[in-house]
Amino acid sequence: MTVKIERAVLESLLTMASFVEARDAYTGGHAWRVSQYGKLLAEELGLDKDDVFVVRLGGLVHDLGKVGISDTVLNKMGPLTDNEFALMHQHPEAGLAALGEHPLVPVVREAILEHHERYDGGGYPTRQRGASLTVIGRILGVADAFDAMTSTRPYRAGMTGEQALAIVTQEAGQQFDPSVAEAMNSLFKKGSLLHVLGHASDEHLMLDCPVCGPVIAPPEDAGDGGDTVCPSCRGRFTMHRRGDTFDLELQEVTTSLYMPQPDRRAVSSILAALPAHQLKI
Ligand SMILES: [Fe+2]
Repeated sequence: MTVKIERAVLESLLTMASFVEARDAYTGGHAWRVSQYGKLLAEELGLDKDDVFVVRLGGLVHDLGKVGISDTVLNKMGPLTDNEFALMHQHPEAGLAALGEHPLVPVVREAILEHHERYDGGGYPTRQRGASLTVIGRILGVADAFDAMTSTRPYRAGMTGEQALAIVTQEAGQQFDPSVAEAMNSLFKKGSLLHVLGHASDEHLMLDCPVCGPVIAPPEDAGDGGDTVCPSCRGRFTMHRRGDTFDLELQEVTTSLYMPQPDRRAVSSILAALPAHQLKI
């Protein structure tokens, strides 16, 4: 089928996706990295431009269903119980249900529904396997898992890229599509994943909160001496420029209302990549 994507509709979808950050501050950086890993993998595998765009967009919205997961489960500092896992496993279908009749559902359906499926059929929610999964889902499965492994959370340190890549290689044919695992290996060897691992590029600036880690996407127009708020601990910081990045000086912990804003750099970048033609999906 073909779909014409209107800019305004795409913007509204990305705004909705950013609401997840009100529940889980780590989702913003995660979604951007999954989108970037996905784009690189899709290009490495030789997918056409339309599919590369679908993967890239899918990475930004894949965890939308987490808005429906309770805070006690979503932000739990430790292992989940069986019941909590069962709840967490509903987030792909919840995300799709939340979008209802949204006109871009045909474009993002596979990303949302398949990113936790496994190549050997042991994933969730549908336990599909192998080639019955779309290439979009198989790519985002690797991208999502690689980012989960390499991300530092308050309760555990992230693995190095090498450690995560060893697991991706070991799980080729089991959790992961072997061709996607191989593409991840070759991208890593070329050094193409480094800027994503460091969550920094021209289109994305993520700052480290001293308490919560890399969760602060400062406003695009923020400069030296500007203010930014950590979406996790709600610390308000003054930004002091240091080279390409900023040091943060804590001013106060704010108790005022916080609403996440879409990351304008990431939104502008994907809008610029929006194909003018009808997208073939
Ligand atoms: Fe997910």
